[in-house]
Amino acid sequence: MPQDRHYINCNDFQRAARRRLPKIFADYIDGGAFSETTLARNRTDFDRYALRQRVLRNLVEADLSTTYLGRIQALPFFPGPVGFMGLYRRDGDQLVGLSARRHGVPFGLSTFSIKGVSSLAPQLGETLAFQLYLDRDPEVNAGYLEACRHAGVETIFLTVDTAITSVRERDVRNQFRSVSHITPALALQFMRRPRWSIDLLRNGMPGVELVNDRPEFGRGALAQAANLSARLDKDLTWDKVKALRDLWPGRLVIKGISDPRDAAIARSSGADGIIISNHGGRQLDHGCSTISLVRPIREALGPDMELMVDSGFRRGTDIIKAVALGADAVLMGRPFAWAVAAEGAWGVDRLFTLLADEIRITLQLMGMSSLAELKAAPVQDVLRHLPD
Ligand SMILES: Cc1cc2nc3c(=O)[nH]c(=O)nc-3n(C[C@H](O)[C@H](O)[C@H](O)COP(=O)(O)O)c2cc1C
Repeated sequence: MPQDRHYINCNDFQRAARRRLPKIFADYIDGGAFSETTLARNRTDFDRYALRQRVLRNLVEADLSTTYLGRIQALPFFPGPVGFMGLYRRDGDQLVGLSARRHGVPFGLSTFSIKGVSSLAPQLGETLAFQLYLDRDPEVNAGYLEACRHAGVETIFLTVDTAITSVRERDVRNQFRSVSHITPALALQFMRRPRWSIDLLRNGMPGVELVNDRPEFGRGALAQAANLSARLDKDLTWDKVKALRDLWPGRLVIKGISDPRDAAIARSSGADGIIISNHGGRQLDHGCSTISLVRPIREALGPDMELMVDSGFRRGTDIIKAVALGADAVLMGRPFAWAVAAEGAWGVDRLFTLLADEIRITLQLMGMSSLAELKAAPVQDVLRHLPD
């Protein structure tokens, strides 16, 4: 049984996940594009903002609830879509989704998830948001939308930053997305990680439920991973976003915006919200950190449209900074993948507890008793932008 003292912050889960997962998967999770400059900048740019401390304000409780995706949510952060979560831990998508529900927040389910929307929607209800990658075949997309409608999904996150696939050099070296079966080199990696491999031997290689009955995508997650991303619609344009808007009556959120001009187009295309994201530094190398984009994009959108952000968030202080700069909520990708890979449901629950505690302590030390107060405060009252 894992002990609380072994996991005192998010990075402890990364180390533990690397100890449990074969290198090909650990590197797939951790890696960024080319020289991984955006990946690093997503972290270092948090240091450009300092938090202001106010004292003697008689704070007993802190209310961390806030409104986004059309509801009051218990916490200002939630697990974003991460492909193949059920490969890192059997039923990983489900374990993360159920923990999110227990903590009163949504869960972003990837198009490339092992358990599909039809299996998870009955358990997760309105907390499930489906992340959509448009396939180049409109019939496949119609099938995805139909599955969402049938399952009662309220929100779709349309990911728009992957029409061009970048190069993650760790994946090239490990042949992720080019091996479709277990090669001798892969078998060796698996043998070095017996805790993960025993499950594979017992239960077999899982497949992506949404395409399991489509032989053209291949069999099992390794083959499907190679085919799924090759099939993404490279000709993704704002016209297709508008067409989706006409087809999808629910909430439509555009994920992968990194420029105030695109944020404004998303708004005029009928999106209900946007997610500022550089895909966790996995796409454009030498791009901007997402924390540096929150304020300019909030200014471009105005105060009312829902604004979320991800990429590089690891600490309660990071989340507080995003909210202070104008975000409604933060998504986290890798931290939840690490937590579920390392310790299953216990790990995900522990990660929620640690981050919620970090947020509460930070907010109270800043002299505030609710996130609503932080959101309403003029940014210069709560943050100092440090000189470059
Ligand atoms: C292993 C992995 C798989 C991902 N798969 C998807 C996906 O299927 N769909 C998607 O929209 N984003 C995907 N993302 C991007 C995440 O949703 C999110 O934007 C990113 O992980 C945020 O950065 P963080 O990991 O630093 O929190 C993936 C990220 C990782 C690390």
